[in-house]
Amino acid sequence: MLVTEWPKSMEAWTRTKRSLAGGVSTGLRAQARPHPIFFSGGAGARLTDLDGNTYLDYVLGWGPNIIGHGHPQLVAAVQGQIEHGATYGSGHEFEYLAAEAVLDAYPAFDRLVWSNSGSEAAQVALRIARGATGRQHFVKFSGHYHGWTDPVLVGYRGGRAGSSSAAESLGQSENASRDAVVLEWGNLDDLRATLTGRDIAAVVLEPVLCNSGVIEPPDGYLEGVREICTETGTVLIFDEVITGFRLAFGGAVEKYGVVPDLAVLGKAIAGGLPLSAVVGKSELLDLTQAGVVHAGTYNGNPVVLAGALATLDVLKREGTYERLDALGRRLASGLGDQLTRHGVVGAVNQVGPVVQCALGVPAVRTFTEFMGADTKAYDLLLVELLRRGVFALPGGRWYLSTEHTEHDIDTTIRIFGEVVSVSSPGVGEGS
Ligand SMILES: Cc1ncc(COP(=O)(O)O)c(C=O)c1O
Repeated sequence: MLVTEWPKSMEAWTRTKRSLAGGVSTGLRAQARPHPIFFSGGAGARLTDLDGNTYLDYVLGWGPNIIGHGHPQLVAAVQGQIEHGATYGSGHEFEYLAAEAVLDAYPAFDRLVWSNSGSEAAQVALRIARGATGRQHFVKFSGHYHGWTDPVLVGYRGGRAGSSSAAESLGQSENASRDAVVLEWGNLDDLRATLTGRDIAAVVLEPVLCNSGVIEPPDGYLEGVREICTETGTVLIFDEVITGFRLAFGGAVEKYGVVPDLAVLGKAIAGGLPLSAVVGKSELLDLTQAGVVHAGTYNGNPVVLAGALATLDVLKREGTYERLDALGRRLASGLGDQLTRHGVVGAVNQVGPVVQCALGVPAVRTFTEFMGADTKAYDLLLVELLRRGVFALPGGRWYLSTEHTEHDIDTTIRIFGEVVSVSSPGVGEGS
C-alpha cells in the first residue's frame, strides 16, 4: 500500500515544535522529508509509526541498533538492572564485565574509559593525546566526522554557508577550531610534511570514511599513517564510532590489521543505549588518573553497561560478521543492479553492513566525488521509499542489523527498483 500522508506524525510534530526547538532532538532530523515521522515502537528490523504503518528500518537509530529493535537479550539485561536502580555514582560489576568484553574485541589494548556519546569520547581521546605529547594541534581529514564539539567540527562539509571560517556551526569557538589542521584523506606525503617538526599531538580519522560515502582507505594508507605517526611521536586515533563492532567484532582494527594508539567506540557498542569508550594502552589511558580530566555523571551507567554486555554477547556469536557482510553485499549489489537496469547514473559502496547509495555520480571514491552526488534527487527517492515501507537515512547511507533477512533485502531491492523506475525523468542524471 502506498502511504500518501502521515496525519498522526504530522500532528505530533506540530505539537512537538511548540515545546521542543525545531520539533526534533537533534538538528539534522528536522530536514527529514516530507517531515519527521514519529514512531510508536520497533521489533527486529521493523519500525511502526503512530499512524500504524510498518517500515523496514535501515536507519537503525543512525547506527546503534545493530541487533535490531527489542532484542530479547538486550531487553532482559536492561530490565534486570533497572529494577536495582538506574545509577550509583560508584563502582559496580558491569563496569569490569563490559570493559573486559570490549577489550576481548580489541586484544591489542588493555584499558578503556567509558563515556556516553561519540562526541564526548572523541574529545577525551584528543585530550589524552595532548596530555601525552604536550602538543596542541591535531590533524583531521575533509569529510570525516568526529562529533559536534568545537575542536572537531571543522572540515566536515566545507564550513558554514556564507562564512570564510572552516567552522561548521554558528557560535563555534574560532580558537578551539583553529587547533585542527584539515588535510585531504589518502595523501601520505601531505601527512608526512604536516607532521614533521610540527606541534601535532594527534591524527584522528575514520578508518573507513563512513560519514562521507562509505569509502575504504586506499591500499596501504592506514599502514602508512601508522608508520608516520610512530616516526613523529604523534598519537594515532581511529574514530571507530561507526566501524567498531560493525565491520568485525574488533572493528576496523581487526579488519585492516592496523593498530592505532587509541580507538573511539560508540553506536553499536550498546545496541541503542547511550555509551561510548576510548580504548588503548594503559600508558595513555592511565593519564586519566594523572592529570587528564575525564568526567561525566552518567559515565559507566549500570543499565547501559548491562545492555552493552548483552549486545556484545549477541554480536560475538559465530558467523555474525560473515552474515552481516553477506547482507551488505546483497543489498549493495541489488541497489546497483536496479540503478543500471533503469539507466540511472549512481554509485553504490559497501563495507560490511554499511552501504552508501549516491545518485548522479558514476563512482564515489573520494570526498569530492561524494560531494558531487545529487542529494535533491536522493531526498525525493527517500520519500518514495518511505511511502512504500522502507525507512532509510538522508545522505545515502544504509545500515543493516543482525535481524534483517535476505527476504527483507530482496523486498527492499524490489521496492527500490519500483521507485527508481517511476521517479521523474532526470533523477540521478546529475545536475
Ligand atoms: C565517526 C563518528 N564519530 C563520532 C560521532 C559522534 O557520535 P555521537 O553522535 O554519539 O556524539 C559520530 C556520529 O555519528 C560518528 O559517525
